[in-house]
Amino acid sequence: MKYSSQAVSQLYFTAAIGLFAGQILLGLIMGLQYVVGDFLFPAIPFNIARMVHTNQLIVWLLFGFMGAAYYLIPEESENELYSPLLAKILFWVFLVAGALTIVGYLMLPYARLAELTGNNLLATMGREFLEQPLITKIGIVIVALGFLFNISMTVLGGRKTGISLVMLLGLWGLAIFFLFSFVNPDNLVKDKFWWWWVVHLWVEGVWELIMGAMLAFVLIKVTGVDREVIEKWLYVIIAFALITGIIGTGHHYYWIGAPGYWQWWGSVFSAMEPIPFFMMTVFAFNMVNRRRREHPNKVATLWAMGTGVMAFLGAGVWGFLHTLAPVNYYTHGTQITAAHGHMAFYGAYAMVVMTMISYTMPIIRGREANSERAQIVEMWAFWLMTISMVFITLFLTAAGILQIWLQRVAETPMPFMAAQDQVAMFYWLREVTGVVFLIGFILYVCSFFIKGEPAKVAA
Ligand code: HEM
Ligand code: HEM
Ligand SMILES: [Fe+2]
Repeated sequence: MKYSSQAVSQLYFTAAIGLFAGQILLGLIMGLQYVVGDFLFPAIPFNIARMVHTNQLIVWLLFGFMGAAYYLIPEESENELYSPLLAKILFWVFLVAGALTIVGYLMLPYARLAELTGNNLLATMGREFLEQPLITKIGIVIVALGFLFNISMTVLGGRKTGISLVMLLGLWGLAIFFLFSFVNPDNLVKDKFWWWWVVHLWVEGVWELIMGAMLAFVLIKVTGVDREVIEKWLYVIIAFALITGIIGTGHHYYWIGAPGYWQWWGSVFSAMEPIPFFMMTVFAFNMVNRRRREHPNKVATLWAMGTGVMAFLGAGVWGFLHTLAPVNYYTHGTQITAAHGHMAFYGAYAMVVMTMISYTMPIIRGREANSERAQIVEMWAFWLMTISMVFITLFLTAAGILQIWLQRVAETPMPFMAAQDQVAMFYWLREVTGVVFLIGFILYVCSFFIKGEPAKVAA
């Protein structure tokens, strides 16, 4: 580790992995509830499990991004972090606030939680992904501001690189678009309109900047390819991401009561959104092929290439599948959406965070790379989780196609629940595959505890 303050990343990464574990468990609970309707009822109803599953996902990714920034920014800036103490304080504030929120979700009826936490002052709760109580949302803003202050000061006081500026821009964008979670007009059309400014402009906008910067950072390190080459790729990728992604928001405005022209704007621009994701794949493979050194951390390189491929499949291919208005007319809000949501979130953001963890954690722990044995276990984890996610996506896609047929296309359309019963077999398969995903995740955690001589590059 070049700068001792980079060590704070470890706290953030540990919390991220812990929350990821909880997310998977709730996913499995819900997956079972899909086929055994009263499983754990009334202790953990489906709607609560879903809220915790998705909120934990977002929170662990945020921990991951912050941890990554605390490592990447000092190294790029050639400068110690402005205030490691602030980073530590904010970590505990965020962790405690997050934990209390989850306890609140699980222990209290949601309406009671809303009452207790000031939702009557400014109503922001009750919307998917933005279910957090007002005080939690304010807490997130405070943590984000402190974090941005800390890393911006670090960048300002040191070397400015393309990677650190793109990372900074992405993180500022993340915080700014979160402010739209406080916008909640009574009119449902307007509410939905602004809601996507958080959800879509995050994952198909500013988060792509964060992802691109992290990928570029790791690729420079493991391949030794010139910074100039890598940064040129990064600029082109983020330009495409913003050009397509911003107006691409229109693919969520088809059926919410927004003006009809969005069907054209949304279809045309979002159809081009796979381009930056495709470029990320080509980028990763190209740089690894042109590598000028062998890095002993083989598994980090595997994660980086895997991120490229899986992000393109999940976001690019599965996104394109239902993004044109005439297709979305049938697929909207079905299991096709869930299939895409899973592979895109895992393939892009979960995997890029794991790429960063895989590259940085050995260094934080005092070696360039983990032992061969630890890396082999981590590779098993990579393949088990990634292949499981591919199958989860395929099963949900099959369920989705049947669902659409039975419920929306057939001559005598079935009611929602009747159609769900017909596709139960795919939900069982999804659940079994989810268990394999969990096994992969357990191996991943185990790989951190496997000791041995650090791997070296064969001479
Ligand atoms: C491994 C076992 C997992 C299972 C069994 C599972 C199951 C589920 C279920 C049943 C839902 C609710 C779908 C609905 O509302 O009908 C859901 C939602 C969701 N899960 Fe998972 N999940 C798992 C892992 C993951 C992972 C690893 C990620 C991402 C990294 C993820 C991301 C999401 C997202 C983004 C949603 C919301 C999807 C939407 O709004 O369409 N899940 N999951
Ligand atoms: C990594 C990037 C991406 C992530 C994490 C992501 C995630 C998601 C999630 C979770 C949803 C469900 C939202 C809800 O609950 O209603 C969704 C919806 C959608 N996504 Fe993505 N997405 C990504 C990229 C893309 C791209 C590139 C496209 C188009 C090419 C796309 C097209 C769509 C469409 C059309 C919907 C609406 C589905 C519906 O009408 O039900 N997504 N996405
Ligand atoms: Fe979108």
